[in-house]
Amino acid sequence: MKNPGFPAPERLPLRRGWPDPLEMFRGERVATRAAWEHVRKPELGALFRHYMYGFEPPAPRNLRVRLLDEMPHARGRAVLREYRVNFGPRGTPAMSLLIVRPARVRGPVPMFVGVNFTGNVNVRSGMDGRPDAWPAELVVRKGFGFATFHASDVDPDRPDFTDGVHPWYFRRGQTKPRPTDWGTISAWAWGLSRAADALLRARETAPDRLMAIGHSRMGKAALLAAALDPRFALAIVNQAGCGGSAPSRGTVGESVRSINKMFPHWFNDVFPRFSRAVNRLPFDQHGLVALVAPRPVLFLAAEGDQWANPDGQFEVLKHAEPVYHLLGAKGLGVNRRPPIGKLVGADLGYRLRPGTHALGPDDWAVALRFASARLKV
Ligand code: GCU
Repeated sequence: MKNPGFPAPERLPLRRGWPDPLEMFRGERVATRAAWEHVRKPELGALFRHYMYGFEPPAPRNLRVRLLDEMPHARGRAVLREYRVNFGPRGTPAMSLLIVRPARVRGPVPMFVGVNFTGNVNVRSGMDGRPDAWPAELVVRKGFGFATFHASDVDPDRPDFTDGVHPWYFRRGQTKPRPTDWGTISAWAWGLSRAADALLRARETAPDRLMAIGHSRMGKAALLAAALDPRFALAIVNQAGCGGSAPSRGTVGESVRSINKMFPHWFNDVFPRFSRAVNRLPFDQHGLVALVAPRPVLFLAAEGDQWANPDGQFEVLKHAEPVYHLLGAKGLGVNRRPPIGKLVGADLGYRLRPGTHALGPDDWAVALRFASARLKV
């Protein structure tokens, strides 16, 4: 999906407030499910890629999945498996996909899939002190599994496109992505789709049981993955903030300008042109949630994490609602931000807890509650 013919950022009209997700780029309003599905949804996906995340390559046709290791885990109630997943042009780095699932179930299980920050070894050992927890016992006790890979398997988190998957998709003579090519968040999201390919192939899970989860920068990737890949039945997005679950037009916490400066590799090379002109963006992050509709999305926020703009995250869900309604789903179902600690919502869910920036067992407990009710596990 290339060359959608969108104008340069500087030539886009100013749009203060929340751009209407049901309004086409050239102004017509979408009023039917069919028009959303076949016309506006592809257009909005192209807009996000063109101006922000970049265009990713198509799904590789040569995916190979090999079981490397299997062992009991979490006091025998879980089984742990590690797969090697290969794809792409010869030489593309392999992904090590770690799976923890209930030992007593043989067939496909409902499964979360997420990118981890510090490596599968740390997830395996249950080491503390990481930004993201992967509570095996809690997850399997509820009848779920999780699958995870290290971010660096797909793309190390640094402003360098000579490593990770990117160079394997360059054309001859190319040394860095072209302005609208994919950045690192898009690569992680694409990696989540490759993990989905592998999990479905290995029959570890089924398409209506596969869920994207992620914390912070990996939450940005989880939301993008669910937006672009309909095989994710729902998305759990923990404190993803700017470039994920918080509005780009937000005035609290991280700004588009700051994120582009600090993390120039996360987005494409068009996005920085909005750093001083966020009101020219033809969408905001509620549009990304709308792309997941009518599938459920849960935002988990923390009071002490103002950098990720918890109030703004609530607003993002609220403004995605019209698309849920058009598709016959409920959306958030409440108008006011709930009190601290309370999970609210229907197809869209929101919860603000006390505390700071992390994905802990308490967040997982809420995620499991949300997912059980939505997937009827
Ligand atoms: C930084 C960054 C955020 C990001 C976070 C994280 O704080 O500014 O955008 O979400 O790191 O990934 O933990």
